[in-house]
Amino acid sequence: MTELATPPPHVPRERIVDIDIYSPPGVEHGFHHAWAALQADNPDVVWTPRNEGHWIVLGGAALQEVQCDAERFSSRVIVLPKSVGELHALIPTTIDPPAHRPYRLLLNANLNPAAVRGLSEEIRATAGALIDSFLAAGHCNFTAQYAEVFPVRIFMALVDLPEAEAPRIRHWAECMTRPGQDLTFETARSLFFEYLEPVVEARRAAPGDDMLSRMLTSGLDGRPLDHDQALSICTQVLIAGLDTVVNFLSFAMRALAEDETARAALRANPNSITSAVNELFRRFGLVTIAREVRNDIDFRGVLLMAGEMIAIPTAVHGLDPAINPNPLKIDFARTRARHSAFGSGPHMCPGQELARQEVATTLTEWLRRIPDFRVAPDSDLSHVPGIVGSIRRLCLEWEIP
Ligand code: HEM
Repeated sequence: MTELATPPPHVPRERIVDIDIYSPPGVEHGFHHAWAALQADNPDVVWTPRNEGHWIVLGGAALQEVQCDAERFSSRVIVLPKSVGELHALIPTTIDPPAHRPYRLLLNANLNPAAVRGLSEEIRATAGALIDSFLAAGHCNFTAQYAEVFPVRIFMALVDLPEAEAPRIRHWAECMTRPGQDLTFETARSLFFEYLEPVVEARRAAPGDDMLSRMLTSGLDGRPLDHDQALSICTQVLIAGLDTVVNFLSFAMRALAEDETARAALRANPNSITSAVNELFRRFGLVTIAREVRNDIDFRGVLLMAGEMIAIPTAVHGLDPAINPNPLKIDFARTRARHSAFGSGPHMCPGQELARQEVATTLTEWLRRIPDFRVAPDSDLSHVPGIVGSIRRLCLEWEIP
């Protein structure tokens, strides 16, 4: 959206900064460098005239406060601009506690560490087979040949949907999370619901051993999910589980391709990969969502008014030097890497165990086969505007073993 909103009278002039959260200024130098620079140059909370006009949290502690305080900051609308976010209305992301709780129990039961452990062999085999498919070429389009295939394959198995449907589903998800696509948000959501309707009905009638069937049959507090609840929660799980891991993998692999010391550290100590993955999530937070201010409040020196929106770019928590010293450096020896890559508070990502496992397995299986690699010149490292930070095309090359 290019139109600029007029600042309301209560917004101090010095807090107004022109930031399109979906394409922050300076993004040509990298998505995370852009957010780090905005954080360094501005106060904790600023106001932008972009996307219908809204506040943005830039300080790490302030970001965490907003995410954790559902009394002051509601999830009723979490997508900007607000006129689009009003249509989002998916479960459980747009429900506040306490009503949110039963939905979360349902998701947690299906995505907890034990459930993910059950998938670990499939994750390992899928990662290995994909890498083997291009190993001998000494080059791959990592984004297209790995990142866009691997998590989607695991995810489609989890919900027992045919992998051939993945491109359609990803396209609708993109239209709901990135501006300027060929379908409006509303059309994409209707297509999602139309696609899922017969799937939900079939699984209700004859449940299988997959996440969608389990959610439909276990229900909420002993009651089955009603029709609309079922479509909404299934759509949300599909959107949340696809684009995030796809894009995170490209950020992580680009960083390793450019950092010989980091690669050597992981090769020397494969047991450190789990904690290394946490450091990578700290360094590469990538989701930017929002909250709606419930009542007029003073927050970190500014007046926020009821109904106003406040953006929460989750990247800024891990990148705040007051929270993680020397934050742009990837340091696998960092003792406590603190971040909000998976959010914080009641809506903290229920899929994080799965995401962490997918990234850890990718690094393990990759380094075992390709210990050294670099970014190839046919890459396009530019950012694609949207809720999820991204790299358009990462290509990697290595000496043929
Ligand atoms: C790199 C991987 C991922 C990242 C960075 C990520 C990030 C996030 C963040 C920041 C939130 C919080 C949203 C909010 O506060 O409003 C969230 C929520 C959510 N995520 Fe993830 N996620 C990832 C992977 C996944 C996966 C693999 C799944 C499912 C299999 C998933 C399912 C969900 C769901 C259902 C929610 C909504 C939870 C709620 O509203 O209570 N995510 N995610």
